[in-house]
Amino acid sequence: MHELIENGTPWTLKEVGTDPEVIKQNETLFSLSNGHIGTRGSLEEAHLTPDYSHSKSTLMNGFYDTEPITYGEWAYGYATHHQTTIPIPDGKKMEMKCDGEVFDLASSDVQAHSRVLDLKKGVLTRAFTWNTSSGNKIDVSIERFVSYDFPEIIAQRFVLTPTKDNSALELSFELDDLEKMGNEVSKEDDPDPRKKEQASRRFESADLEFHDAGMIHITTHASGLHAVVGNKVMTENDVHQQIADKKRDSLSLHSKADESIVIDRFVAYSDLFKEASLKDEVTDELVRTLKTVSQYGYEELLSKHIQKMASFWDKSDIQIEGEQALQLGLRFNLFHLHQAAGRDGKTNMSAKGLTGEGYEGHYFWDTEMYMFPFFLYTQPDIARSLLMYRYSILPQARERARTMAIDKGALFAWRTINGEEASPYYPAGTAQIHINADIAHAIYSYGEVTGDSAFMLKEGVEMLVETARFWMEWGHFDDERNEAFVINDVTGPDEYTAIVNNNYYTNLMAKKNLTYAIEWVEKSGDQSTGDNLNVSADELAGWKKAAEKMFLPYDKDKQLTMQDDSFFHKKVWDFDQTPKENYPLLLNYHPLTIYKHQVCKQADTVLGQFLFLDDFSLEQKKRDYAYYEKVTTHDSSLSRSVFGMMASQIGEDKKAYDYFMDTALMDITDLQSNTRDGVHAANMGGTWMSMVQGFAGLRVSEGTLHSSPHCPLKWDRVAFKVSFKKRLIEISMTPSSTDYTLLEGESLTIIENGKEITL
Ligand code: BGC
Repeated sequence: MHELIENGTPWTLKEVGTDPEVIKQNETLFSLSNGHIGTRGSLEEAHLTPDYSHSKSTLMNGFYDTEPITYGEWAYGYATHHQTTIPIPDGKKMEMKCDGEVFDLASSDVQAHSRVLDLKKGVLTRAFTWNTSSGNKIDVSIERFVSYDFPEIIAQRFVLTPTKDNSALELSFELDDLEKMGNEVSKEDDPDPRKKEQASRRFESADLEFHDAGMIHITTHASGLHAVVGNKVMTENDVHQQIADKKRDSLSLHSKADESIVIDRFVAYSDLFKEASLKDEVTDELVRTLKTVSQYGYEELLSKHIQKMASFWDKSDIQIEGEQALQLGLRFNLFHLHQAAGRDGKTNMSAKGLTGEGYEGHYFWDTEMYMFPFFLYTQPDIARSLLMYRYSILPQARERARTMAIDKGALFAWRTINGEEASPYYPAGTAQIHINADIAHAIYSYGEVTGDSAFMLKEGVEMLVETARFWMEWGHFDDERNEAFVINDVTGPDEYTAIVNNNYYTNLMAKKNLTYAIEWVEKSGDQSTGDNLNVSADELAGWKKAAEKMFLPYDKDKQLTMQDDSFFHKKVWDFDQTPKENYPLLLNYHPLTIYKHQVCKQADTVLGQFLFLDDFSLEQKKRDYAYYEKVTTHDSSLSRSVFGMMASQIGEDKKAYDYFMDTALMDITDLQSNTRDGVHAANMGGTWMSMVQGFAGLRVSEGTLHSSPHCPLKWDRVAFKVSFKKRLIEISMTPSSTDYTLLEGESLTIIENGKEITL
């Protein structure tokens, strides 16, 4: 399906031919985005060729609509509204005619069709030859990118080179016909909860009468969001006729043999806004942006975009010598991670990035625990923006805690866009209150890795305090358990075990959350610049006691960490009698059938131990790993990377390598059989983590950078860069040695396997 090109340098994914299944599959892989807008890798004429497209959507981060959730049986505090990301006008749609014949891949006579995604440049190109029924032969190339320089812009260049004179060519560019689009959006019949869940949610549109052609204003039905979209088409060729109405720009041209026609198109998407009264202001601004980019012209815009991509790769690339397919897979993951992150402090990263509508565009713990580390060590500004998004929804998190009858602190929503809980199934949703500690962990790590005390003393400490307060109220000191602090009726990361007491991961993370809050409250003293948090000495003492007395379930006879109080009392799932086609179990068994067994969807205890590697003995980690690996299905894409990372740190080299390969190539090989709904962004973060935190064993402990490298024998060399406290460090590993080079910043001492190295 894919082929490597560019002199054997693995920077490009190439698709050759016209097989609809391959083109459909690559619609997700060839998505382009910049954290603000994203557009799937569909054909420009996808509206004419439904067999070649799963969903051709263009998405805007944070643009969603709501609808009341209908429950068969309601209970107090259930999430009230769906939040569903909805496609916006598709800025890549094109219709091409030659002597009246409409082009489309399904019915036209096409030769040498190929598409190439260039990861280095962030550009998708398509090329083919069209043999028209009127006897012309036209070489067509279409290029597209989503600008990093102007986040509002999707740019396209169409180049048509006919071999004969005097054909009537017509090219039309339109922002989607909205009525039709509304009809297209129908609820999927498939009950798979990982897919999009949308009823009649779509946007309304209105033309902006007083502006040039091609400006429309879109609004949602219920969530009260607005955006403006504009379309600009340019050419320097002789145009016979150009007709532009509100949503359509059509050019008619006469062909001249061997003379290329070049048409450039820019589609601009404003930021979303909440007050309709801002419409004119936003429109004027977007018109100015379109004017600026038109003045630059396509080539200059492209070269600026490529420069931005180059500076991204300079800091973020991982080079691996010895395995080329893997190098490509690795870069593919980094590319999509970079594309997915909201950068404005108001949006975040959905589980599918902006590559598809799976999981409704929701933000989960996936961000903090899987995607965040990559940004933290390579682009800390983006990491900060991701945390600022959490800060922006702190009021909703406080409100949510009140709904849960908790008077103090905040509970972040398990899945959300606007900050309100959107999970209709609480056992695998709201009950995953570990999200609070996951966010706290990301905040604390941010402070450790960047040294950004301005953030920590204001937004950081406030979130640490509010999440710590929640734990104190949710849990209690259990006199039946020697006054241990217990946390009952929660679901840990493993969604095949729900509503349990003392999930090990949750308790461990809550303990850390409390200690992080204590440390920063003590550190900040009077310096705190945020809200007056009023943490009293008594409150602080309460946190200390709870952290010390946190109950961490352990089976002394088996010498195993218990995933929760009840885990070992359950019957082990009968894996031998489970046919392959019954996986993922969630699509084939009632939740209770799953919950009453020892079976895990994903890493849970092992993840907790991996995060705090130095807190556990090697023997303990090995025993727990062996036990939990046997009962884990990896039905969640968040699992394999964690088992791989831990394997590399406990000397299971083969396992580490095999899990890593599955992780790194998951979407390219469609390992989970649902890549068409969007990429698995958490797993992509897991790929970066596997390399840096798994194989290189990089971690921060008490403010110092530690490493414990285990480079697989199959690789000749692996090299990557990390930012740490205003330094830029290059780490280069071979199976026998590791070099650390300080590229920027002051001298630093790090610890490799317990030994100090000064850079
Ligand atoms: C996983 C969750 C994850 C969610 C979104 C589920 O399948 O079990 O851990 O947050 O997908 O990626």
